[in-house]
Amino acid sequence: MAKLKIGVAGAPRGASFLAGMHAYEGRAEIAGVYEPDPQARHDFTTATGVPSLERYEELLERVDAVIVASPQHHHVPQAVAALERGVHVLSEVPAAVSLEQARLLLAAVRGSDALYMLAENYCYSRPNLIVGAMAKAGLFGELYFGEGEYLHEMKSWHTNPAGQPTWRYFWQVGRAGHSYPTHSVGPLLQWFDDRIVAVSCVGSGRHTDPEHEIDDTIVLLGRTSRQALLSVRLDLLSNRPHLMDYYSLQGTAGAYEAPRAEGQEPRVYLLDKSPSERWQPLDAYADDFLPKRYREVAEGAGHWGADSFPVRDFIDAVHDGTAPPFDIYAALDMTLPGIVSETSFHEGGAWKAVPNPRLWDAGVGTEPGREAPLA
Ligand SMILES: NC(=O)c1ccc[n+]([C@@H]2O[C@H](COP(=O)([O-])OP(=O)(O)OC[C@H]3O[C@@H](n4cnc5c(N)ncnc54)[C@H](O)[C@@H]3O)[C@@H](O)[C@H]2O)c1
Repeated sequence: MAKLKIGVAGAPRGASFLAGMHAYEGRAEIAGVYEPDPQARHDFTTATGVPSLERYEELLERVDAVIVASPQHHHVPQAVAALERGVHVLSEVPAAVSLEQARLLLAAVRGSDALYMLAENYCYSRPNLIVGAMAKAGLFGELYFGEGEYLHEMKSWHTNPAGQPTWRYFWQVGRAGHSYPTHSVGPLLQWFDDRIVAVSCVGSGRHTDPEHEIDDTIVLLGRTSRQALLSVRLDLLSNRPHLMDYYSLQGTAGAYEAPRAEGQEPRVYLLDKSPSERWQPLDAYADDFLPKRYREVAEGAGHWGADSFPVRDFIDAVHDGTAPPFDIYAALDMTLPGIVSETSFHEGGAWKAVPNPRLWDAGVGTEPGREAPLA
């Protein structure tokens, strides 16, 4: 296959995929950018030398694949437009911002020959990869409890220097519920090899920056199909140092806890291997469990090096015709609990079912010759 021509929609976050692509220069190249903001456009074209297109559709005409790194509410319209033209999509998180968007996206994926992948980068952090491989090997036994936290004080990101609201004002803090779930839910679902079937969502009230619709702290409880319990916290407003990648898990044969502060190490306790009642550094298991493919992080790759990998897995999946690690169903399993959490929040934390996108009929049977059974 010839070099994959990749376009970028949304320059600032789009640029964070470049580091991961360097090792893949023989397989893919950036071929253009669509970015409405003149300064962001200038920065990207200066750094890469690629042309900037006036319209998103023009970008699609000249590429095989697109990285959708625009604000969240644009992900689905831009992914759908690409898939309808047979252009492969690597989408930033979350996959969608509403149930309606989620159905449209699913229908477009089912109706397209092009590939769709969610760029959930937190699944690729070193500790998360090691824990995932250990969980898969059964070292923690049967998993029944997990935690994920994304605590990131972002008050200055909600308006621009002119004081006007940014997209985050509406889509991240303008909604009551868990509005940014995939970084916390994604790794947990990988480890548990499961999906969330119901959520209950409550909040702490609005104290720090009460003009926003979201509570200072949001807690989403998720019940999985295998009856495990997940506790997922989001806080975008509270005054505190950030902690965007806290996780823990508990199984019948052991436990894992990520560090909560600088100077601490990720740690595990395994019934059959650790000294009695004593934690061990997770790193003691790195040689055996960190997958070889993810050992070398790209120079300059953000999010602890995790940004190296989503784009590489995407390029390989397109080239090799293999399933991407985070396909449409994995993407919606990570995204839908957050969308449904808003209904639960408004009903005082009532448990609400999270739909299984595999059973949705969106896009099935609408085009003669393309009918497929539900996944
Ligand atoms: N995976 C991660 O770790 C991570 C980190 C940051 C952001 N994100 C995601 O990346 C996306 C962008 O976030 P950001 O931090 O770069 O936001 P940002 O506000 O810094 O930048 C958004 C950019 O998108 C441009 N834009 C607006 N409308 C557009 C459109 N229709 N098409 C193309 N570009 C458009 C804006 O001009 C701006 O330059 C969001 O969906 C966010 O959730 C993910």
